[in-house]
Amino acid sequence: MAVDVLLGLQWGDEGKGKIVDVLSPKYDLIARFQGGPNAGHTLEFDNQKYVLNTIPSGIFNEKTMNLIGNGVVIDPIILKRELENLKKSGFDPVAANKLVIARKAHLILPTHQLLDAASESKMGEGKIGSTLKGIGPTYMDKTGRNGLRVGDTMLVDFKEKYDRLVNKHKSILAHYGEIPDFSEKEQAFFEAIEYLKTIPQVDSEHYVNQFLREGKSVLAEGAQGALLDVDFGSYPFVTSSNTTAAGACTGLGIAPGKIGSVIGIFKAYCTRVGGGPFPTELHDETGEELRKIGHEFGATTGRARRTGWIDLPALKYAIMLNGVTELVMTKADVLSGFEKIYACTHYEYNGEKIDYMPYDICSVPANPIYEEIDGWNEDLTGIKTIGEIPAKLEAYVKYIEQHVGVPVKYLSVGPDRVQTLVLN
Ligand code: GDP
Ligand code: IMO
Ligand code: MG
Repeated sequence: MAVDVLLGLQWGDEGKGKIVDVLSPKYDLIARFQGGPNAGHTLEFDNQKYVLNTIPSGIFNEKTMNLIGNGVVIDPIILKRELENLKKSGFDPVAANKLVIARKAHLILPTHQLLDAASESKMGEGKIGSTLKGIGPTYMDKTGRNGLRVGDTMLVDFKEKYDRLVNKHKSILAHYGEIPDFSEKEQAFFEAIEYLKTIPQVDSEHYVNQFLREGKSVLAEGAQGALLDVDFGSYPFVTSSNTTAAGACTGLGIAPGKIGSVIGIFKAYCTRVGGGPFPTELHDETGEELRKIGHEFGATTGRARRTGWIDLPALKYAIMLNGVTELVMTKADVLSGFEKIYACTHYEYNGEKIDYMPYDICSVPANPIYEEIDGWNEDLTGIKTIGEIPAKLEAYVKYIEQHVGVPVKYLSVGPDRVQTLVLN
């Protein structure tokens, strides 16, 4: 057996949560491998909407196990809140033995969030637009070999380790100015740590490989998107983890040869939240319309998402980086009613026509060159069979497939579980 990977091919919020939930009945285990509560994965079914930050999106499927992998960074306060909210909605993954957590996953401390905020406020105009969840500072402590891990909470000297790290953070924070009072947050943190300790801890590398040895199926769930990858995204306007397929290996403890299908998910247009280059961004009424119709407001921060047309050079790049074997197109319904749709096929960059993302895209603008495509008028949200797909939408899907060379296997036409079509 192999581990299939589902990941975002744009700047996040492609609909990963929805599609993982749809696919989860096919899998025995759903495993998050990177990112943290900067993620907001939305699922809808039975007229209910759920937003998950840390918990894998297989949690609503009765037979599926869920693992928070070692590559994830965990804010115990947020995780506790997520689990309590689920319990209120009638789902209790801990009681149902459906959730395990890697003891090698790193912890986000209250002071990591203060460092995130301090760093962002110092950057002024050039700020990343981080979610302020402490993601960057936590990964910095991980690679800087200072971090605290979930397994450390079980050690007798956990508090000493915590104090040592917080003192280090305080000395850094002092350089930024006055250190805000975080005593309440700290109290909540330690309460949440006690809660965290009730979730079974595992070594994700052994856990996932054991599933494979037993012939069980595993889906690795990505967070963020390929263009936010710390190595290959629009650096420095990226997140602090490898969001691409390789991240599934390091974030769970599986060998590259154990990767099976790579399912790449993209919106029928583009969005981005936070700072950084976005070649096809629309600053006009059309952009506003996409935001309104697509409800393009962040699931985690509520921020308005920037919107624009599909960017094929960026999509091709993301497909190459991830070795994508099949595609999912979401939010096709949002484009209904647009007389014309535009697809960026190249950039005009430094006076040349190119079809790749250039290194210095953050300083030299890459201006989109578009092809015009006929839109469709039909409302897609009630479509149940592929025979009902309007011809113009079918042509748009084919057009993208031809450009990127990978088939679109699923088409999503609304936020609900049932609004999903299998194409081929
Ligand atoms: P994720 O971070 O990739 O899981 O995506 P988010 O949940 O942050 O954002 C996707 C948003 O689009 C959520 O509000 C989903 O409910 C919604 N969504 C997902 N697929 C579709 C779709 O096909 N059509 C529409 N209209 N909304 C969708
Ligand atoms: P999901 O999993 C969209 C963006 C932030 C910011 C940059 C760095 O829901 O797709 P960070 O807090 O990670 O240091 O922020 O990355 N960002 C996301 N944008 N969806 C996400 O997650 C994101 N997670 C981070 O807006 O620009
Ligand atoms: Mg999201």
